[in-house]
Amino acid sequence: MFSKRSAFEQRKNALTLALEAAAPRYDLTESNPTRAGLPYPGPELLAAFDNAAVRLYAPDPRGLLPARQAIALRMAARQLQVDPAQVFLTSGTSEAYGYLFKLLCDPDDEVLVPQPSYPLFEHLCRLENVRAVPYPLHYDGQWHIGLPELRSAVSARTRAILLVSPNNPTGSYLKRSELLALENLGLPLISDEVFGEYPLRDDPERCQSALCSERALVFSLFGLSKQAALPQWKVSWICMRGPKAPTEQAAQRLELIADTYLSVATPTQLALPRLLSLLAPTQTALHARLRRNLGKLRGLLSNGSVSPASLLHVEGGFYATLRLPATQSEERWVLDFLEKDSVHVQPGYFFDFADEAYVVLSLLTPEATFDEGVKRLLQRVQANVGRGPR
Ligand SMILES: Cc1ncc(COP(=O)(O)O)c(C=O)c1O
Repeated sequence: MFSKRSAFEQRKNALTLALEAAAPRYDLTESNPTRAGLPYPGPELLAAFDNAAVRLYAPDPRGLLPARQAIALRMAARQLQVDPAQVFLTSGTSEAYGYLFKLLCDPDDEVLVPQPSYPLFEHLCRLENVRAVPYPLHYDGQWHIGLPELRSAVSARTRAILLVSPNNPTGSYLKRSELLALENLGLPLISDEVFGEYPLRDDPERCQSALCSERALVFSLFGLSKQAALPQWKVSWICMRGPKAPTEQAAQRLELIADTYLSVATPTQLALPRLLSLLAPTQTALHARLRRNLGKLRGLLSNGSVSPASLLHVEGGFYATLRLPATQSEERWVLDFLEKDSVHVQPGYFFDFADEAYVVLSLLTPEATFDEGVKRLLQRVQANVGRGPR
Protein backbone atom coordinates (compact mmCIF):
# COMPACT_ATOMS: atom_id res chain seq x y z
CA MET A 1 0.00 0.00 0.00
CA PHE A 2 2.84 2.41 0.82
CA SER A 3 5.73 3.89 -1.15
CA LYS A 4 9.25 2.47 -0.87
CA ARG A 5 10.59 5.92 -0.15
CA SER A 6 8.56 6.19 3.06
CA ALA A 7 9.74 2.79 4.34
CA PHE A 8 12.24 4.07 6.88
CA GLU A 9 13.81 1.85 9.53
CA GLN A 10 11.66 2.33 12.65
CA ARG A 11 13.49 -0.01 15.01
CA LYS A 12 14.74 1.62 18.19
CA ASN A 13 18.48 1.34 18.79
CA ALA A 14 20.13 0.76 22.16
CA LEU A 15 20.70 4.49 22.66
CA THR A 16 17.04 5.39 22.10
CA LEU A 17 15.98 2.65 24.52
CA ALA A 18 18.45 3.87 27.15
CA LEU A 19 17.16 7.44 26.77
CA GLU A 20 13.60 6.23 27.21
CA ALA A 21 14.61 4.42 30.40
CA ALA A 22 16.10 7.49 32.10
CA ALA A 23 16.23 11.16 31.11
CA PRO A 24 19.88 12.34 31.28
CA ARG A 25 20.74 15.13 33.73
CA TYR A 26 23.46 16.49 31.47
CA ASP A 27 22.17 16.73 27.93
CA LEU A 28 25.08 17.80 25.70
CA THR A 29 23.07 17.33 22.50
CA GLU A 30 20.76 20.34 22.79
CA SER A 31 20.58 22.00 19.39
CA ASN A 32 17.24 23.72 19.82
CA PRO A 33 18.17 27.35 20.58
CA THR A 34 14.74 28.08 22.07
CA ARG A 35 15.58 25.66 24.90
CA ALA A 36 19.08 27.01 25.48
CA GLY A 37 18.22 29.91 27.81
CA LEU A 38 19.13 32.67 25.31
CA PRO A 39 17.78 36.22 25.61
CA TYR A 40 15.07 37.14 23.09
CA PRO A 41 13.56 40.58 22.43
CA GLY A 42 10.08 39.28 23.41
CA PRO A 43 7.75 42.31 23.00
CA GLU A 44 9.61 43.55 19.92
CA LEU A 45 9.29 40.12 18.28
CA LEU A 46 5.54 40.17 18.82
CA ALA A 47 5.33 43.78 17.61
CA ALA A 48 6.98 42.72 14.35
CA PHE A 49 3.69 40.98 13.49
CA ASP A 50 1.64 44.11 14.08
CA ASN A 51 0.99 44.96 10.45
CA ALA A 52 -2.34 45.82 8.84
CA ALA A 53 -1.19 44.11 5.64
CA VAL A 54 -1.61 40.68 7.28
CA ARG A 55 -5.29 40.89 6.32
CA LEU A 56 -4.43 40.67 2.64
CA TYR A 57 -3.37 37.61 0.69
CA ALA A 58 -1.28 38.71 -2.27
CA PRO A 59 1.37 35.98 -2.50
CA ASP A 60 4.59 36.14 -4.46
CA PRO A 61 6.04 32.67 -5.17
CA ARG A 62 9.58 33.93 -4.45
CA GLY A 63 8.45 35.57 -1.21
CA LEU A 64 7.18 39.12 -0.62
CA LEU A 65 9.59 41.67 -2.10
CA PRO A 66 10.27 43.63 1.15
CA ALA A 67 11.31 40.37 2.82
CA ARG A 68 13.67 39.50 -0.06
CA GLN A 69 15.07 43.04 -0.08
CA ALA A 70 15.73 42.85 3.67
CA ILE A 71 17.57 39.56 3.11
CA ALA A 72 19.67 41.10 0.31
CA LEU A 73 20.58 43.99 2.65
CA ARG A 74 21.63 41.59 5.36
CA MET A 75 23.75 39.63 2.90
CA ALA A 76 25.32 42.93 1.70
CA ALA A 77 26.37 43.61 5.30
CA ARG A 78 28.40 40.38 4.98
CA GLN A 79 29.93 41.59 1.70
CA LEU A 80 27.73 39.20 -0.31
CA GLN A 81 25.97 40.73 -3.31
CA VAL A 82 22.57 39.10 -3.77
CA ASP A 83 19.84 40.20 -6.17
CA PRO A 84 16.43 40.12 -4.40
CA ALA A 85 15.05 38.61 -7.63
CA GLN A 86 17.28 35.61 -6.99
CA VAL A 87 16.10 35.01 -3.43
CA PHE A 88 13.43 32.38 -2.71
CA LEU A 89 11.77 32.07 0.68
CA THR A 90 10.95 28.59 1.97
CA SER A 91 9.40 27.19 5.10
CA GLY A 92 12.59 25.74 6.60
CA THR A 93 15.74 24.43 5.00
CA SER A 94 14.34 20.97 4.34
CA GLU A 95 11.79 22.50 2.02
CA ALA A 96 14.59 24.38 0.25
CA TYR A 97 16.34 21.07 -0.40
CA GLY A 98 13.03 19.63 -1.64
CA TYR A 99 12.59 22.51 -4.12
CA LEU A 100 16.16 22.19 -5.38
CA PHE A 101 15.97 18.43 -5.85
CA LYS A 102 12.70 18.92 -7.77
CA LEU A 103 14.45 21.56 -9.88
CA LEU A 104 17.58 19.55 -10.67
CA CYS A 105 16.81 15.84 -10.37
CA ASP A 106 14.68 13.16 -11.94
CA PRO A 107 13.99 9.93 -10.02
CA ASP A 108 17.22 7.96 -9.44
CA ASP A 109 19.44 10.92 -10.26
CA GLU A 110 22.30 11.47 -7.85
CA VAL A 111 23.60 14.23 -5.64
CA LEU A 112 26.98 14.10 -3.92
CA VAL A 113 26.78 14.51 -0.15
CA PRO A 114 29.60 15.10 2.35
CA GLN A 115 30.43 12.50 4.97
CA PRO A 116 30.44 13.00 7.93
CA SER A 117 27.61 15.52 7.79
CA TYR A 118 23.97 16.38 8.40
CA PRO A 119 22.11 13.12 9.09
CA LEU A 120 18.93 14.35 7.40
CA PHE A 121 20.43 14.18 3.89
CA GLU A 122 19.56 10.52 3.56
CA HIS A 123 15.87 11.23 4.28
CA LEU A 124 15.71 14.43 2.24
CA CYS A 125 17.12 12.66 -0.81
CA ARG A 126 15.09 9.52 -0.44
CA LEU A 127 11.81 11.41 -0.08
CA GLU A 128 12.53 13.05 -3.45
CA ASN A 129 13.60 9.75 -5.07
CA VAL A 130 17.15 11.06 -5.33
CA ARG A 131 20.24 8.99 -4.56
CA ALA A 132 22.67 10.43 -2.01
CA VAL A 133 26.18 9.45 -3.11
CA PRO A 134 28.75 10.16 -0.37
CA TYR A 135 32.09 11.89 -0.75
CA PRO A 136 34.46 11.94 2.24
CA LEU A 137 35.77 14.75 4.39
CA HIS A 138 39.25 13.85 5.62
CA TYR A 139 40.87 14.92 8.87
CA ASP A 140 44.59 15.58 9.22
CA GLY A 141 44.42 18.16 12.01
CA GLN A 142 41.96 20.09 9.82
CA TRP A 143 39.06 18.91 7.70
CA HIS A 144 39.36 18.78 3.92
CA ILE A 145 37.03 17.72 1.13
CA GLY A 146 38.31 14.45 -0.37
CA LEU A 147 38.53 15.90 -3.87
CA PRO A 148 39.87 12.77 -5.64
CA GLU A 149 37.04 10.66 -4.16
CA LEU A 150 34.51 13.36 -4.98
CA ARG A 151 35.68 13.47 -8.59
CA SER A 152 35.41 9.69 -8.89
CA ALA A 153 31.91 9.76 -7.39
CA VAL A 154 30.64 11.92 -10.27
CA SER A 155 28.57 9.89 -12.74
CA ALA A 156 26.34 10.59 -15.72
CA ARG A 157 23.47 10.88 -13.23
CA THR A 158 25.10 13.41 -10.88
CA ARG A 159 23.02 16.57 -10.72
CA ALA A 160 24.54 18.58 -7.85
CA ILE A 161 27.20 18.71 -5.17
CA LEU A 162 25.97 19.38 -1.64
CA LEU A 163 28.17 21.36 0.74
CA VAL A 164 27.62 22.35 4.35
CA SER A 165 29.71 25.32 5.47
CA PRO A 166 30.41 25.28 8.32
CA ASN A 167 29.57 21.63 8.39
CA ASN A 168 27.45 19.88 10.98
CA PRO A 169 29.13 18.38 13.01
CA THR A 170 32.77 18.90 11.92
CA GLY A 171 32.51 22.70 12.01
CA SER A 172 34.65 22.97 8.88
CA TYR A 173 34.16 25.78 6.35
CA LEU A 174 34.50 25.49 2.59
CA LYS A 175 37.95 26.78 1.56
CA ARG A 176 38.66 29.03 -1.42
CA SER A 177 40.85 26.39 -3.09
CA GLU A 178 38.09 23.79 -2.64
CA LEU A 179 35.52 26.06 -4.27
CA LEU A 180 37.85 26.58 -7.25
CA ALA A 181 38.30 22.81 -7.61
CA LEU A 182 34.55 22.19 -7.40
CA GLU A 183 33.79 24.86 -10.02
CA ASN A 184 35.88 22.89 -12.50
CA LEU A 185 33.40 20.02 -12.33
CA GLY A 186 30.69 22.19 -13.90
CA LEU A 187 27.95 20.91 -11.56
CA PRO A 188 25.45 23.02 -9.60
CA LEU A 189 26.45 23.57 -5.98
CA ILE A 190 23.91 23.43 -3.16
CA SER A 191 25.63 25.06 -0.19
CA ASP A 192 23.99 24.88 3.22
CA GLU A 193 25.26 27.92 5.13
CA VAL A 194 22.76 28.00 7.99
CA PHE A 195 25.60 28.09 10.56
CA GLY A 196 27.61 30.63 8.51
CA GLU A 197 27.28 33.51 10.96
CA TYR A 198 28.99 31.56 13.77
CA PRO A 199 32.71 31.40 12.99
CA LEU A 200 34.82 30.29 15.95
CA ARG A 201 38.22 31.26 14.58
CA ASP A 202 39.70 33.42 11.82
CA ASP A 203 40.91 31.80 8.65
CA PRO A 204 41.94 33.76 5.53
CA GLU A 205 41.49 30.57 3.48
CA ARG A 206 37.81 30.35 4.40
CA CYS A 207 35.26 30.92 1.72
CA GLN A 208 32.72 33.41 3.04
CA SER A 209 29.99 31.70 0.98
CA ALA A 210 29.75 29.51 -2.11
CA LEU A 211 27.98 32.58 -3.57
CA CYS A 212 31.50 33.97 -4.06
CA SER A 213 31.89 31.57 -6.98
CA GLU A 214 32.51 33.31 -10.29
CA ARG A 215 31.57 30.33 -12.45
CA ALA A 216 29.27 27.78 -10.80
CA LEU A 217 25.49 27.80 -10.57
CA VAL A 218 25.17 28.15 -6.79
CA PHE A 219 22.19 27.79 -4.48
CA SER A 220 23.12 28.83 -0.95
CA LEU A 221 20.75 28.10 1.90
CA PHE A 222 20.22 30.31 4.94
CA GLY A 223 17.54 30.66 7.57
CA LEU A 224 16.27 32.07 10.81
CA SER A 225 16.57 28.79 12.70
CA LYS A 226 20.27 29.28 13.46
CA GLN A 227 20.88 32.89 12.40
CA ALA A 228 18.15 34.33 14.65
CA ALA A 229 17.83 31.27 16.92
CA LEU A 230 14.18 31.10 15.83
CA PRO A 231 13.54 27.67 14.26
CA GLN A 232 9.83 27.97 15.05
CA TRP A 233 9.44 30.85 12.60
CA LYS A 234 10.09 28.37 9.79
CA VAL A 235 11.75 30.87 7.48
CA SER A 236 14.67 29.93 5.28
CA TRP A 237 15.85 31.22 1.96
CA ILE A 238 17.72 30.15 -1.12
CA CYS A 239 20.09 32.70 -2.66
CA MET A 240 21.01 31.91 -6.21
CA ARG A 241 23.92 33.10 -8.33
CA GLY A 242 25.62 31.92 -11.49
CA PRO A 243 26.03 32.28 -15.23
CA LYS A 244 23.18 34.34 -16.74
CA ALA A 245 21.30 31.79 -18.85
CA PRO A 246 21.09 28.85 -16.42
CA THR A 247 20.41 31.22 -13.50
CA GLU A 248 17.44 32.75 -15.31
CA GLN A 249 16.07 29.35 -16.29
CA ALA A 250 16.54 28.05 -12.76
CA ALA A 251 14.74 31.10 -11.36
CA GLN A 252 11.74 30.60 -13.66
CA ARG A 253 11.46 26.93 -12.75
CA LEU A 254 11.98 27.52 -9.05
CA GLU A 255 9.24 30.13 -9.18
CA LEU A 256 6.85 27.55 -10.56
CA ILE A 257 7.82 25.00 -7.93
CA ALA A 258 7.39 27.58 -5.16
CA ASP A 259 4.07 28.72 -6.66
CA THR A 260 2.76 25.18 -6.22
CA TYR A 261 3.28 25.41 -2.44
CA LEU A 262 3.29 29.11 -1.43
CA SER A 263 4.30 27.79 1.95
CA VAL A 264 5.68 30.73 3.94
CA ALA A 265 2.91 32.47 5.89
CA THR A 266 2.23 36.09 4.96
CA PRO A 267 2.45 37.44 8.58
CA THR A 268 5.90 35.89 8.93
CA GLN A 269 7.09 37.35 5.63
CA LEU A 270 5.78 40.78 6.59
CA ALA A 271 7.54 40.57 9.96
CA LEU A 272 10.87 39.46 8.50
CA PRO A 273 12.42 42.90 7.76
CA ARG A 274 11.79 44.04 11.35
CA LEU A 275 12.93 40.76 12.75
CA LEU A 276 16.24 40.88 10.87
CA SER A 277 16.94 44.23 12.55
CA LEU A 278 16.24 42.72 16.00
CA LEU A 279 18.34 39.59 15.96
CA ALA A 280 21.71 41.04 17.04
CA PRO A 281 21.40 40.58 20.86
CA THR A 282 20.24 36.96 20.58
CA GLN A 283 22.87 36.15 17.98
CA THR A 284 25.59 37.81 20.06
CA ALA A 285 24.57 35.82 23.16
CA LEU A 286 24.47 32.60 21.18
CA HIS A 287 27.87 33.26 19.64
CA ALA A 288 29.30 34.06 23.09
CA ARG A 289 27.89 30.75 24.41
CA LEU A 290 29.56 28.79 21.60
CA ARG A 291 32.93 30.47 22.17
CA ARG A 292 32.72 30.14 25.92
CA ASN A 293 31.85 26.43 25.86
CA LEU A 294 34.54 25.70 23.29
CA GLY A 295 37.10 27.53 25.48
CA LYS A 296 35.91 25.62 28.54
CA LEU A 297 36.18 22.31 26.69
CA ARG A 298 39.74 23.14 25.62
CA GLY A 299 40.56 24.11 29.21
CA LEU A 300 39.17 20.90 30.69
CA LEU A 301 41.01 18.81 28.11
CA SER A 302 44.36 20.42 28.89
CA ASN A 303 43.83 20.37 32.65
CA GLY A 304 46.48 18.35 34.48
CA SER A 305 47.50 15.07 32.86
CA VAL A 306 47.21 14.48 29.10
CA SER A 307 43.63 13.45 28.35
CA PRO A 308 42.98 10.30 26.32
CA ALA A 309 40.20 12.30 24.61
CA SER A 310 41.10 14.90 22.00
CA LEU A 311 39.18 17.75 20.43
CA LEU A 312 39.07 17.90 16.63
CA HIS A 313 39.73 21.27 14.98
CA VAL A 314 36.57 23.42 15.04
CA GLU A 315 36.16 26.41 12.73
CA GLY A 316 32.53 27.35 13.34
CA GLY A 317 28.96 26.24 13.98
CA PHE A 318 27.25 24.68 16.98
CA TYR A 319 29.25 21.48 17.52
CA ALA A 320 32.53 20.08 18.78
CA THR A 321 33.77 16.57 18.09
CA LEU A 322 35.84 14.56 20.53
CA ARG A 323 37.92 11.59 19.48
CA LEU A 324 37.91 8.87 22.13
CA PRO A 325 40.20 5.87 22.47
CA ALA A 326 38.95 3.00 20.32
CA THR A 327 39.14 0.67 23.31
CA GLN A 328 35.41 0.12 22.99
CA SER A 329 32.74 0.88 20.42
CA GLU A 330 31.24 4.33 20.01
CA GLU A 331 27.89 2.98 21.06
CA ARG A 332 29.41 1.51 24.25
CA TRP A 333 31.02 4.86 25.08
CA VAL A 334 27.76 6.74 24.62
CA LEU A 335 25.80 4.18 26.65
CA ASP A 336 28.42 4.30 29.43
CA PHE A 337 28.18 8.10 29.62
CA LEU A 338 24.41 7.85 29.76
CA GLU A 339 24.00 4.97 32.16
CA LYS A 340 26.90 5.68 34.52
CA ASP A 341 27.16 9.47 34.39
CA SER A 342 23.74 10.65 33.17
CA VAL A 343 25.48 12.46 30.28
CA HIS A 344 23.98 12.44 26.80
CA VAL A 345 26.21 12.96 23.75
CA GLN A 346 25.75 11.96 20.13
CA PRO A 347 27.82 9.13 18.69
CA GLY A 348 29.84 9.79 15.53
CA TYR A 349 27.93 7.12 13.63
CA PHE A 350 24.86 9.41 13.60
CA PHE A 351 26.85 11.55 11.19
CA ASP A 352 28.60 8.73 9.32
CA PHE A 353 32.15 9.27 10.50
CA ALA A 354 34.44 6.92 8.57
CA ASP A 355 35.84 5.27 11.70
CA GLU A 356 35.36 5.12 15.50
CA ALA A 357 35.27 6.43 18.18
CA TYR A 358 33.88 9.96 18.10
CA VAL A 359 31.27 11.80 20.10
CA VAL A 360 29.64 15.10 19.21
CA LEU A 361 28.84 17.78 21.79
CA SER A 362 26.53 20.72 21.28
CA LEU A 363 28.25 24.00 22.19
CA LEU A 364 24.80 25.52 22.56
CA THR A 365 24.31 23.67 25.85
CA PRO A 366 23.75 25.98 28.84
CA GLU A 367 27.09 26.59 30.60
CA ALA A 368 26.51 24.81 33.93
CA THR A 369 25.21 21.66 32.23
CA PHE A 370 28.04 21.77 29.71
CA ASP A 371 30.76 22.09 32.36
CA GLU A 372 29.50 19.30 34.59
CA GLY A 373 28.63 17.03 31.66
CA VAL A 374 32.09 17.44 30.08
CA LYS A 375 33.84 16.86 33.42
CA ARG A 376 31.94 13.65 33.96
CA LEU A 377 32.58 12.51 30.41
CA LEU A 378 36.32 13.14 30.65
CA GLN A 379 36.53 11.38 34.00
CA ARG A 380 34.75 8.36 32.51
CA VAL A 381 37.19 8.28 29.58
CA GLN A 382 40.11 8.50 31.96
CA ALA A 383 38.69 5.71 34.12
CA ASN A 384 38.02 3.44 31.14
CA VAL A 385 41.40 3.62 29.41
CA GLY A 386 44.06 1.16 30.36
CA ARG A 387 41.52 -1.58 30.82
CA GLY A 388 42.09 -2.75 27.27
CA PRO A 389 39.55 -3.74 24.61
CA ARG A 390 36.40 -5.57 25.68
C1 LIG B 1 23.25 21.59 8.18
C2 LIG B 1 21.85 21.91 8.60
N1 LIG B 1 21.00 22.47 7.73
C3 LIG B 1 19.74 22.77 8.09
C4 LIG B 1 19.29 22.52 9.36
C5 LIG B 1 17.87 22.80 9.73
O1 LIG B 1 17.46 24.04 9.37
P1 LIG B 1 15.91 24.44 9.42
O2 LIG B 1 15.51 24.46 10.85
O3 LIG B 1 15.89 25.76 8.77
O4 LIG B 1 15.15 23.46 8.60
C6 LIG B 1 20.13 21.93 10.29
C7 LIG B 1 19.64 21.64 11.64
O5 LIG B 1 20.35 21.29 12.54
C8 LIG B 1 21.44 21.62 9.90
O6 LIG B 1 22.28 21.04 10.77
